[in-house]
Amino acid sequence: MTDTAWQAVEALAPKRLTELFAAEPDRLEALTLDVAGIHFDWSKTHLDAAGLQAFAQLADAAGLAARRDALFAGEPVNVTEGRAAEHAAQRGEGHPESVAQARGFHARMRALIDAIEADALGPIRHVLHIGIGGSALGPDLLMDALGRDSDRYDVAIVSNVDGLALEEAIEDFDPDATLLVIASKTFTTTETMLNAESAIGWMTENGVADPYGKVIALTANPEQAIAWGVDETRVLPFSESVGGRYSLWSSIGFPAAIGLGWDVFEELLEGAAEMDRHFRLAEPLRNAPVLAAFADLYYTQVRHAETRATFAYDERLRLLPSYLQQLEMESNGKRVTADGTPVTRPTAPITWGGVGTDAQHAVFQLLHQGTHLVPVEFIAAIEPGDVLSEAHHRQLLLNALAQGAALMAGRDNEDQARAYPGDRPSSTLLLDQVDARTLGALIAFYEHRTFVSAALLGINPFDQFGVELGKEMAKAADKGGQAFDASTTDLLRRAGLAG
Ligand code: F6P
Repeated sequence: MTDTAWQAVEALAPKRLTELFAAEPDRLEALTLDVAGIHFDWSKTHLDAAGLQAFAQLADAAGLAARRDALFAGEPVNVTEGRAAEHAAQRGEGHPESVAQARGFHARMRALIDAIEADALGPIRHVLHIGIGGSALGPDLLMDALGRDSDRYDVAIVSNVDGLALEEAIEDFDPDATLLVIASKTFTTTETMLNAESAIGWMTENGVADPYGKVIALTANPEQAIAWGVDETRVLPFSESVGGRYSLWSSIGFPAAIGLGWDVFEELLEGAAEMDRHFRLAEPLRNAPVLAAFADLYYTQVRHAETRATFAYDERLRLLPSYLQQLEMESNGKRVTADGTPVTRPTAPITWGGVGTDAQHAVFQLLHQGTHLVPVEFIAAIEPGDVLSEAHHRQLLLNALAQGAALMAGRDNEDQARAYPGDRPSSTLLLDQVDARTLGALIAFYEHRTFVSAALLGINPFDQFGVELGKEMAKAADKGGQAFDASTTDLLRRAGLAG
């Protein structure tokens, strides 16, 4: 039972961060870690020796180790859907049969990429990737972070059903030299299928003789892709047990594999696997995803923080906050436990964030002086992404680190409008560099951190029934004849969508 362990967590005495530093000379050793090219620092959070012990006991009571082992063993940890969650198997860490299957699917993807590079589908210069949610956010993050200097292919990722998104993406594309990649686990998502049909229409209207001959499908539903018109030889499958928001390691990573090159994609998988092994083997109090989840839970459960903000002090990681929004909020934004009973405590905080230093001039006022407690995560890389003068990167890093110090230290002033209360928590992730290996480890770290929080909260992070109702209502409104509330009926009429 976790009740007693939770009571111990909730009873933790609040102390100021500066007091904690003064009282705990070994604070840095206890609350920093180096894993897979990433230095993690939680020393500016309110976790202390007593807090760590309380959370370690909670982890024991919640059976974290057994849950983690079940995850890696390919057991049906996604209990509401009765299936495993095998994203780690995609990078070689999982049940041997699932690892072998993932290797087979990767080999198929690699062979198809080799064939495309050898012009088997005609000369290809552009890759138009269509998908949404987990079928777009991961590829987009990877290409934005790692593809800036790549001259292999122009890769565009289109997700929104707003036709403007597709129009803008294809504006400079030659339809004859475009590979159309349709990414959808289910191959039924309305937005993706409509965008795919419009892309085929664009190719046909522009004289492409056999547009379907240039289509690749990335899916866990190959039959549906084939029925839609994709040739079986160009369907790149992945397992049903890979969740959408955990799928960039599977064939959903195709744009990165073709756009950055196979070696880079493999490095990404290896970096993630290194984090998997760390998560699997390191003891709880020296385990990065576990410590991060302890800090997250401390703020949501003990300090009642409702949000957590991530600021990437690196242009290459500017899409990370939106990637994390899906990963964390779709996974842990739940109101019942895994056995279906209502939760008795808050689940995931609202994940938000932005890019430093821009965000400092927009939202940091609230972080320093507002009434909300917002735990902040700073992410920066030691090696610069630019080749301008050193001054740029120096300023970038100085700002990232100074903000954490300022949030914690605060500053007195007789004039309260100018006073900073301080004692505001932050964690810092300092990457050696932004390369595929480190990015793989970083994303895997966030996946496992989300899993640990879910395990301690007793919720299932791998389903997402909450997204269905709105989709169904949009379909019902499209069909017509369904009674809606007075407001929606009026809005549908005004928008010209109903009589
Ligand atoms: O609507 C939510 C969701 O189901 C996500 O979980 C998923 O990543 C996204 O839609 C896209 O789904 P699919 O890959 O099946 O098109």
